[in-house]
Amino acid sequence: MSRCSAPGKMILLGEHAVVFGKPAVALAINLRISSAVSKSTQYSVNGRAMQKRHHAYISAALDQAWGGPPINVDTISEIPSGSGLGSSAAVTVSCVAAMMASKGKFNHEAVAKKSFAVELKVQGSASPTDTSTSTHGEGVIVSPEKLDGFLWRIEHGDNAWNMHHCDVPKLRFVVGYTGIHAATGPLVAGVRSLVESNKDARRSIDRIGEIVMDGVEALSKQDKKRLGQLMNEDHELLNGLGVGHSALEELVVAARPLSFGAKLTGAGGGGSMIALTDDVEKVSEAIRSAGGEPIVVSVGAEGVRRDD
Ligand code: MEV
Repeated sequence: MSRCSAPGKMILLGEHAVVFGKPAVALAINLRISSAVSKSTQYSVNGRAMQKRHHAYISAALDQAWGGPPINVDTISEIPSGSGLGSSAAVTVSCVAAMMASKGKFNHEAVAKKSFAVELKVQGSASPTDTSTSTHGEGVIVSPEKLDGFLWRIEHGDNAWNMHHCDVPKLRFVVGYTGIHAATGPLVAGVRSLVESNKDARRSIDRIGEIVMDGVEALSKQDKKRLGQLMNEDHELLNGLGVGHSALEELVVAARPLSFGAKLTGAGGGGSMIALTDDVEKVSEAIRSAGGEPIVVSVGAEGVRRDD
């Protein structure tokens, strides 16, 4: 048997634009998914027969990283599914890693590349941001150019994403979970069709790319005020791309007076928002009063690891 665990993530800046090859910065969070693979008489998940549609990520992980006799995959998750906090990336990365470890082939770059192929197959369109962040942990800067701290490069179609290590300062974030499950694939497809037909949407994608690089600088200087402003601007641009939601908006509006900045994180359409603040208790209360579930997260968590 092999067991591996991988962290969830929050995208600080750059979601959606990164699918078009623009930069993004994502931080690993202290919520994990743990997956174990063991011999079995049939392909199964948590002891029940595997269903390709219901267990889409695990089934695609088997195609990418296994190719051996039947196994059972046991998963334990601390990350709400469809919350924008990287549950599908963490389940994919932990499964791929456990399968590779049981064949004696565990290595971070290979896990990241195979896990991206899994997300791409299931979602139809994706960037490697979530899976590479869950694999490397700490923080990841995604960029079309090679920068300091280079980890690995992933290419697909016309896009190439260079992954880099990002030092993560001690910052406090409150996640506000709307409780609304939002599937990433249709949201990414919606942005793609808007960008293909609308000049303003294309401009927004370019502007998000600029915001990310300013944000990386603000993060390295621990300039929370500037980072908060950039988070706010990014949020408005994402709303303009049609991935906002009224429930998310209520949480963002509630958190902002007590925060440096607040924005949706991940695919949007529900899911979660994040607030950067020095007062996590007050922001948590404000999010709860506005109908959300506050989760105080610490960032910079360890990437995928063997737990067996
Ligand atoms: C989802 O967490 C992030 C998106 O940018 C999609 C992706 O990068 O694959 C919306």
